[in-house]
Amino acid sequence: MTAANTHTQDAWAVILAAGSGTRLASALAETAGPQKKQYLELEGEPLFWKSARTFARLQAVQGLVLVFPPEDLERMTGVAADLYQRDPLGVPWRACAGGARRQDSVRLGLAALDASARLVLVHDAARPFASAALVRRVLAPLGEGCRAAIPGLAVTDTIKRVSANDIIVDTPERATLRAVQTPQGFVLAPLLEAHARAQAEAWEVTDDAALMERAGHQVVVVQGEEANVKITTPADLELLRPKACAAPRTGWGYDVHRYVAQAEDDPKVLAKARPMMLGGVAIAGAPRVLAHSDGDVLLHAVTDALLGIACAGDIGQLFPDTDATYDNMPSAIFVTEALRRVRAAGFVPVHADLTVIAQVPKLGPHRARIAAQVAQLLELPAGVVNVKATTEEGLGFTGEKRGLKAVAVVTALPG
Ligand code: CTP
Ligand code: MG
Repeated sequence: MTAANTHTQDAWAVILAAGSGTRLASALAETAGPQKKQYLELEGEPLFWKSARTFARLQAVQGLVLVFPPEDLERMTGVAADLYQRDPLGVPWRACAGGARRQDSVRLGLAALDASARLVLVHDAARPFASAALVRRVLAPLGEGCRAAIPGLAVTDTIKRVSANDIIVDTPERATLRAVQTPQGFVLAPLLEAHARAQAEAWEVTDDAALMERAGHQVVVVQGEEANVKITTPADLELLRPKACAAPRTGWGYDVHRYVAQAEDDPKVLAKARPMMLGGVAIAGAPRVLAHSDGDVLLHAVTDALLGIACAGDIGQLFPDTDATYDNMPSAIFVTEALRRVRAAGFVPVHADLTVIAQVPKLGPHRARIAAQVAQLLELPAGVVNVKATTEEGLGFTGEKRGLKAVAVVTALPG
């Protein structure tokens, strides 16, 4: 086999950045201004440079060819030179002009390779997420005598072959199908021959593996990467958006309400005596609670925890108890508004841990209903809302049965 004397240290990479990005053009014109997708930035550098860095990190890669649209060659060569000055890759690079079709750009890129190159990795600049591990996987079979190796993934959708008017012709067996990616690795000599034949015989292909297949070479498929997406449609632009700080946020809330004594007869106090509500659940037979709203101490703690996540102050600022609007108001309204603010801040609650501290009443029988009710308010499954109850061993105002308190801890993730 000719590859017997091929060792994997003689590889160059051809990075294809000579397309026009037509499927993205109109979306980009609206947002980023007219530009080609391969020049879009990810973490502060153009997509083609991401790939350049990935290849340059590999021992096996001796140099890079960047292929740009002819009309951009001069400008982009300057851009690449600036990038290289800031971030020397440790391998030489050169730039050349591409052609009208992808296969033309590859052919022209191959012609610009250094004479020492024995292996070539052909890669789409539009796939900035390819990892160094993937490149190594592609190179491995070439070191073992194969002439062509490409990454592929098993397909999860059933694929149909259709006629020009969208009538299904047949259904290839899914297990035999692979969605293939780049970088595609080749022994250079047979790839050059395949490209020459493609030119002479007018073969039209969408990847280089297809040329090698047609020229009669065996092409090995190695495991691709889900993340190695080709930025193609407007939906893919989401992948390039700077990730917001991915840290979760934890909000903490605390509230206390006084009990109204059974013998209370002050009409002012009685006007604010509410039957006990906890987490939106009426607790029959429990002491009455003194409050402006409905006095749901637990939902007030939950509201403050949510406002903590949203960095939106506290319940007293948002819903002052001097405001008659909130007189006897169901506290669920506070939770709903605080939740809206959490969402507006870009977070989604995922868990709540709640504690009610009271000497009386006994809360055990109510816990499950309270958890279910709070979960519903937070739009969470009941299984991720925990309700605890404790006494303070007869100590303090809860011990003296003069009131109760509640603590809420809510966790939210960026979403
Ligand atoms: N490419 C190229 N020369 C071409 C066509 C494509 O170098 N004549 C490159 C693209 O820059 C891209 C890769 O090949 O990195 C894959 O092609 P594709 O995703 O189709 O990109 P575009 O052709 O630019 O996009 P579109 O098909 O939407 O116009
Ligand atoms: Mg294209």
